Amino acid sequence: MRGVDVKQYFVGIDLGGTNMKIGLVHQNGNVIKDIEKPTLKEEGPDGVIRRMVRHTQDLAQEARVPWEEIGGVGVGLPGFLDIPGGVVKYLTNLGWRDVPIRDQLESAFGVPVKIDNDANVAALGEVWAGAGAGEQNVVLITLGTGVGGGIIAGGKLLHGARGIAGEIGHIPIDPDGVLCNCGRAGCLETIASATGMVRLVREAVEAGETSSLVLPLQNGTLSTKEIFAEAEKGDSLAKTTVERAVDALARAMAILSVVVNPSLFIIGGGVSKAGDALLKPLENHYRKQVQQNAGQGVRIELARLGNQAGFIGAAGLLARTRK
Ligand code: BGC
Repeated sequence: MRGVDVKQYFVGIDLGGTNMKIGLVHQNGNVIKDIEKPTLKEEGPDGVIRRMVRHTQDLAQEARVPWEEIGGVGVGLPGFLDIPGGVVKYLTNLGWRDVPIRDQLESAFGVPVKIDNDANVAALGEVWAGAGAGEQNVVLITLGTGVGGGIIAGGKLLHGARGIAGEIGHIPIDPDGVLCNCGRAGCLETIASATGMVRLVREAVEAGETSSLVLPLQNGTLSTKEIFAEAEKGDSLAKTTVERAVDALARAMAILSVVVNPSLFIIGGGVSKAGDALLKPLENHYRKQVQQNAGQGVRIELARLGNQAGFIGAAGLLARTRK
């Protein structure tokens, strides 16, 4: 309608421990342009937030979208938040505490800003435009530096009393486990994240195990994709590492199945690049552990939007609030 100020473009920012991804997204979910920049967490909140703002402004300029046409900025953050207050309580793998990020970004951008957990926005992104399209009950699990989760129940993202619902990475799985960056020991994240799997390999190698993973470990190039590939080729250390990670993850999924009864689990994050080498053993372990009725008809699929899910969902925090 003429004369009505309807803004069509939204920005989504997905802040990760290693990289930040920023996307300019049309109201219909199409990505206009996106960039990925290093997080440089050693700069601390002020430095990182300053660059977040600069990269976003550069992106809009490069895409030739005047700032006046941007309706708002959504941000996915990797940790515990006070969502209504717009405040970071604790970012597990970045170490930030008590940062009033929403207000800081609103005054820098001059448009409305909303924050939510990084895995929550990835779940929204996948349900909006990816593997979960049309689904009402979905659990998305991201396996990367940490383990994140986003739960859509009855078509709605679950936040719980204080926005912490879906912090799947901190389900206590191993009673004898190592200390997690969250402050507790034995969390799923200490075993099934990329960092956790590489740690398992390192500990075994230090204890004297031989494996085709020793060289990449010593060169500092060991990826989880390689661990899964070597496991398929029969390397014994790679096999036990995959078994432990997948077993822990399946246990958490079996618990979630009786708690929220999803019809679909979506697995995303860097570790999901292993594809079938991850999905096949995960499916086997899940079937062994899940209560039969809760597991009936449940599908486990890979995320479809890749590393765009987070910023698409973050942009959707504002873009999807109106028709
Ligand atoms: C954090 C989560 C986050 C996940 C993935 C975990 O350590 O606690 O909030 O979603 O890492 O980034």
